[in-house]
Amino acid sequence: MRNRVALLLVYIGIMKESRPGERRVAAIPATVETFVSWKWNVLVQSGSGLEAGHTDESYKSAGAEIVESAGSAAEVDLVLRVGPPTPDDLDLLHKGSTVAGFLDPFVNDTVVRKLTDLGLTGLAVEAIPRTTLAQSMDALSSQANIAGYAAALAAAQISPRLLPMMVTAAGTIPPSKAVILGVGVAGLQAIATMRRLGAVVQAYDVRPETREQVESLGAKFIEAPTAEADEGGYAREVGNDLQARQWEILAPYVADADLVITTAQVPGRIAPRLITSEMVDAMKPGSVIIDMAAASGGNVEGSKPDQEIDRNSVLICGPTNLAGAVPADASRMYARNLVALLERTRTDDGGISIDLEDDIIGPTAVVYRGEVRHPKCNELLRIRTEGSS
Ligand code: NAI
Repeated sequence: MRNRVALLLVYIGIMKESRPGERRVAAIPATVETFVSWKWNVLVQSGSGLEAGHTDESYKSAGAEIVESAGSAAEVDLVLRVGPPTPDDLDLLHKGSTVAGFLDPFVNDTVVRKLTDLGLTGLAVEAIPRTTLAQSMDALSSQANIAGYAAALAAAQISPRLLPMMVTAAGTIPPSKAVILGVGVAGLQAIATMRRLGAVVQAYDVRPETREQVESLGAKFIEAPTAEADEGGYAREVGNDLQARQWEILAPYVADADLVITTAQVPGRIAPRLITSEMVDAMKPGSVIIDMAAASGGNVEGSKPDQEIDRNSVLICGPTNLAGAVPADASRMYARNLVALLERTRTDDGGISIDLEDDIIGPTAVVYRGEVRHPKCNELLRIRTEGSS
């Protein structure tokens, strides 16, 4: 079959993550055991799993070989990663090999170009179709779920207030009020976690079908305008009129909230602005905002990636790696997502085959042996090339 190259005697490598503060790892001992049962050889760079709770010994017991340098872990057919590789990471791979992980392929043109220049194949988990068939591989969802939980905990920890109502001899403390804007995977988990912590929760999403989900979690849906999702189930970019209406309706809810978590994203676009500086200025001192969209432009005016901004005693936080704050379980889920994805590439005789005709592997292989395949990557390169000329 065209573009289907089967490789026997497969070596896969786990390199230490290069992003500062990244504590997750792409394979855990249990998934190494699975790869070994497929007759794949696994090389793990020493110390890769420590912050997620896995020692070199535990990988060795699972059947992996421990290597000291990133270079040794990269001299393989397939490298598994969590976060996008740096150009230096990719330079360690040899021509024809494959890298799988969050490659940021629709935003990070440097990674796409480097994969192309080096003749590599990139399996980007962001490009896995969001279909029922691919649910077990959906790393965007598994990590967004954890991030929503971590966002709620971070907000609770920063807030100077208790979240649950407390009736005590020293008086009654009312519950904190939380507002969640954007109710996809992360937003739903943020609602559920806030509810477990005892806050009163109100939430809003532009997709009308989220109302029922919000209410089923015991939160109140904010009656701001909604608009039908696109054919892929994602929200569309809203026009200026709808945005102005959102601001008008959301403003009093935001002003009244002790805790706000925003998660709104429109794939391939700058994140929608849901909270303006005027809305922040109307909030009470001590209120906390966690803007989970800070890396893609921010839902909150003035938020900055990985910074905490104090605006008149309202703290605006823009964490970009919340899933990394729970590295053990985030790694466990992510590693299982990768196993489910790679299961589709393994052959019965212990080989690996990247089948570009496959419904899931095809779109996920955003670059194949140096050739850019995903239309969104081509679009990114075109825009960046035009922008720099
Ligand atoms: P996302 O991270 O792309 O966006 C987060 C939320 O922001 C979405 O709920 C979106 O509707 C909302 N949003 C966007 N613009 C907004 C605006 N202007 N105002 C208010 N809210 C706005 O979303 P996520 O979590 O990745 O899920 C997106 C869609 O994919 C959902 O329909 C979800 O149900 C679906 N999905 C399907 C899966 C499957 O079938 N396997 C798995 C996971 C998600």
